Amino acid sequence: MSEVRVWLVGAGPGDPELLTLKAARLIGEAEVVLYDRLVSPEILAMARPAADLIDVGKRPGGSHTQDVLNELLVLHAQSGRRVVRLKGGDPFVFGRGGEEVEVLARHGIACEVVPGVSSALAGPASVGIPVTHRQVARAVTIVTGHEATDSDPVDWSAVARLGGTLVVLMGVERRGAIVSKLIESGLDADTPAAVVMHATTARQRVWSGRVGELPDADVASPAVMVIGAVATFADDAAALVAAQTLPVDG
Ligand SMILES: C[S@@+](CC[C@H](N)C(=O)[O-])C[C@H]1O[C@@H](n2cnc3c(N)ncnc32)[C@H](O)[C@@H]1O
Repeated sequence: MSEVRVWLVGAGPGDPELLTLKAARLIGEAEVVLYDRLVSPEILAMARPAADLIDVGKRPGGSHTQDVLNELLVLHAQSGRRVVRLKGGDPFVFGRGGEEVEVLARHGIACEVVPGVSSALAGPASVGIPVTHRQVARAVTIVTGHEATDSDPVDWSAVARLGGTLVVLMGVERRGAIVSKLIESGLDADTPAAVVMHATTARQRVWSGRVGELPDADVASPAVMVIGAVATFADDAAALVAAQTLPVDG
């Protein structure tokens, strides 16, 4: 393996202050930054003006396939310049980071992985939802709502029986089907649910209600869906903020 010239860096959920110090340093030192769609402009602005910033984000129906992206990554890595592959959240949480490390390794290219703050945890936390709580949730399951056609489908009936907190990423578009499968498999339609959209950014918005109401909820991507007793904490946090902003008499 060669000297490290490629860093697979987690950019966190959006707020630049949630970047790790290491990520901020590497972005500032990079000569090439290959970045995903959900990396915020404020974070990209931390790169040097001379750095090449390349948008490799995959969009629904868009032109970049993972194969094209892998080729680009290898090409830039072989150029000898310092390459940062910047991915939203943590590079190894549904970010195909593992596949990119394998591709680089096959080409004999050394790379270092820099963990990031995942939206799976930061999304709920940013609206006051603790994904675990000693009284009501002793486990948390993070699952994708977007099933790749070439991988095993998620066993939603097993997921419905796990208990604890369920965090679903990339699930907004398929929430009707996901909710049907969970309820068919025994999950109570009255289980609390929350959806945190654009978490930790200026566009952050939260919906909260019951699982049975999720299919008709006014929600949009990017979003983290939280299902389980802890989801009511979103209401509590909102109530607390409202109480703190009430005018004080006298
Ligand atoms: C391809 S996955 C990548 C996840 C990322 N690696 C992470 O650790 O957060 C993209 C999904 O993450 C979630 N996501 C990422 N950033 C988000 C944010 N700021 N607010 C809400 N959801 C977010 C959404 O479910 C989105 O569809």
